[in-house]
Amino acid sequence: MIIHTQRLCLRPWSDADAPALFELARDPRIGTLCGWKPYELIDDAHEVLSTVLAAPNSYAVTLSSTGELVGSIALRVDADETETSIGNIGYWIGVPYWGNGYASEAGRAIIERAKELCVETIILKYFDGNDASRRVSEKLGFTWRNREEGVEYPLIGKRLTVHCTELALAAH
Ligand SMILES: CC(C)(COP(=O)(O)OP(=O)(O)OC[C@H]1O[C@@H](n2cnc3c(N)ncnc32)[C@H](O)[C@@H]1OP(=O)(O)O)[C@@H](O)C(=O)NCCC(=O)NCCS
Repeated sequence: MIIHTQRLCLRPWSDADAPALFELARDPRIGTLCGWKPYELIDDAHEVLSTVLAAPNSYAVTLSSTGELVGSIALRVDADETETSIGNIGYWIGVPYWGNGYASEAGRAIIERAKELCVETIILKYFDGNDASRRVSEKLGFTWRNREEGVEYPLIGKRLTVHCTELALAAH
């Protein structure tokens, strides 16, 4: 599935994205705010492309004008104990591309995708102090739900405070 927005094309990942992904994801300013270690080797990119990024509704965020990779966005759909369909949204944008509204634009597209998938509530979490992501969550219309203290992130060996925000989608 390919999603077009005003400036972006959200498309499935391919192994051919490894070099561009590696260049963006080796920067420690990305992974440490997402809960994973910066990539050290191109093999890290190949591995993530064949596992995490191969999941359904995981998209490479690219510029429509040039095709270049600018980031990543994904929606993971689960059901809770009452069988309510819950979507978890996660994203990052490469440092050279920050501040252009790309995360918000991709986020709006993913919300529309969640509606198509009959998701009832979307959850967006960010680490305490990640003000850029807090702002993205606000711009997308999420409301703050709660904070979770001491959440373990084994990949980076840290316990962190996480803010949980949510967006209720209209039933249809
Ligand atoms: C969070 C992130 C995805 C934002 O990407 P982006 O494309 O720059 O986001 P946008 O341009 O759509 O919006 C960012 C908003 O945050 C604001 N912002 C940026 N840095 C900020 C800061 N330190 N404090 C407060 N607001 C900040 C911007 O001004 C903008 O708001 P505005 O449109 O009202 O001016 C990007 O910074 C990133 O990938 N960070 C590292 C990984 C990460 O945090 N991922 C999310 C994990 S929950």
